[in-house]
Amino acid sequence: MDNKNIRVLVVDDENHMRDAIRKALENAGLESDEAQDGKSALEMMRQCHYRVIITNRNLPELDGEALMEEALALFPETIVILTGSGSIQSVVEAIRKGAYDYLPKPFQIDELILRVEKGIAEQRLKLKIRKPDADMDVEGGYHFSSLVGSSAAMQAIYKRIGIVANKTSTILIEGETGTGKELIAKAIHYNSNRKDQPLVSVNCGAIPSNLLEDELFGHVKGAFTGALQNRIGRFEQANHGTLFLDEVSSMPMDLQVKLLRVLQEREFQRVGSIATVKVDVRIVAATNGDLLAAVEKGEFRSDLYYRLNVIPINIPPLRERRDDITALTRHFIRKFCVEQKVPIKKISDEAIQCLASYDWPGNVRQLENAVEMAVTLSDDRELLDINDFPIACRTLKTAEPVSEIEFPDDGVNFNTVVSDLEKRLILQSLEVARGNKKKAATLLRLKRTTFVEKLRRMGVDPEDCADSMMEEDYAQEA
Ligand SMILES: Nc1ncnc2c1ncn2[C@@H]1O[C@H](COP(=O)(O)OP(=O)(O)OP(=O)(O)O)[C@@H](O)[C@H]1O
Ligand SMILES: [Mg+2]
Repeated sequence: MDNKNIRVLVVDDENHMRDAIRKALENAGLESDEAQDGKSALEMMRQCHYRVIITNRNLPELDGEALMEEALALFPETIVILTGSGSIQSVVEAIRKGAYDYLPKPFQIDELILRVEKGIAEQRLKLKIRKPDADMDVEGGYHFSSLVGSSAAMQAIYKRIGIVANKTSTILIEGETGTGKELIAKAIHYNSNRKDQPLVSVNCGAIPSNLLEDELFGHVKGAFTGALQNRIGRFEQANHGTLFLDEVSSMPMDLQVKLLRVLQEREFQRVGSIATVKVDVRIVAATNGDLLAAVEKGEFRSDLYYRLNVIPINIPPLRERRDDITALTRHFIRKFCVEQKVPIKKISDEAIQCLASYDWPGNVRQLENAVEMAVTLSDDRELLDINDFPIACRTLKTAEPVSEIEFPDDGVNFNTVVSDLEKRLILQSLEVARGNKKKAATLLRLKRTTFVEKLRRMGVDPEDCADSMMEEDYAQEA
């Protein structure tokens, strides 16, 4: 178990007890701090995030249970282990209030360490389950294998994730809606050495701006009407892990200043407090608008933009990486068939071609929804055809529609107009298929031999637009 970055706070008024616990924790690879009374422990808790607190119940100033309540208000997943004496009833009551465990004194230090380790393991699981898409893959399945697509653009993204995952550099993911920004943020986190620490997401666009500061930085009791307890914010929850700031372009100006400061100093204050809190958080931000354009319009601070945009990851829209559409379609068919417990369905070539030629304004999410609809409504039919998909993507988009023809008084030459249009169709299909003749031929629903013959008649040497590697790739996919 990797206990790096997990800090334990040991609170006891007996020096020898604290010493013994600290040494044992150290042997177990856990870092700790010590306090000899409740008040200084509370101060320390407000400065640093402790995942585990071992405290004597009877303490000068503030007792162990009051300390526990504060700790749980700051971070509900804190593992609090109480030590000392008490009636069975009071112990039961303490556990009911959220203590993880209770060890009456005298106890074996080894026994204490065992319980700490068990607590940490359970806490880790809880933090993972709380992550946004817990239903997808609890055991950190967001390896690159969860990202589908082998277009040049996606390959470049995989490479970049591989290089930056283990660094702390801030990452800015830009991409239209539904292109996979959140999925990529997860891939970064779960492929980093922070993967056992929390990944915390904040959608800056979904939280009213007056609540966003509280959400990010937390508050202390009495900071405003209704602040009855101390509460830690997302930054502290993400300590040692990753904070995903989604829709960062929606962040109000005054908060942009505060965020800039955290990025520079790695510290901040909770609302209503002057005490500085230090955090070790890796920031991944995302935006579906052009952030630089927002900077130019004066809606986003340029200094913050440059602080966020240390490592940019741009996800092109699906229509600019059509090569991925087939693989994604097959991936989603498999996914929904497994989910719906039906045998894996096949899809007709015609349907694949139509989907690959559609523009997908909602990108991968829209494709995913379209496939879900097709799989669901096709009932027990094994072959999906294009009529199973939403009407919008049913037509095969090839060349531009025929532009309006002007008829001069003396008319047009039918054969010339038709052969012009034919040329345009052929050239545009080659462009869409990036020179791949087989693919271009399918886009026009022609046999490859017919297509090649037409090219020859146009005076184009078919060898000039050969791209054998792409052709093989396509043949394998089809
Ligand atoms: N490369 C991919 N491989 C597999 N699934 C993907 C890929 N990209 C996106 N998806 C899926 O598409 C859906 C949308 O992705 P995601 O939520 O990450 O997009 P987004 O860019 O954050 O969208 P928005 O801007 O609307 O928040 C998700 O279900 C995600 O799993
Ligand atoms: Mg998103």
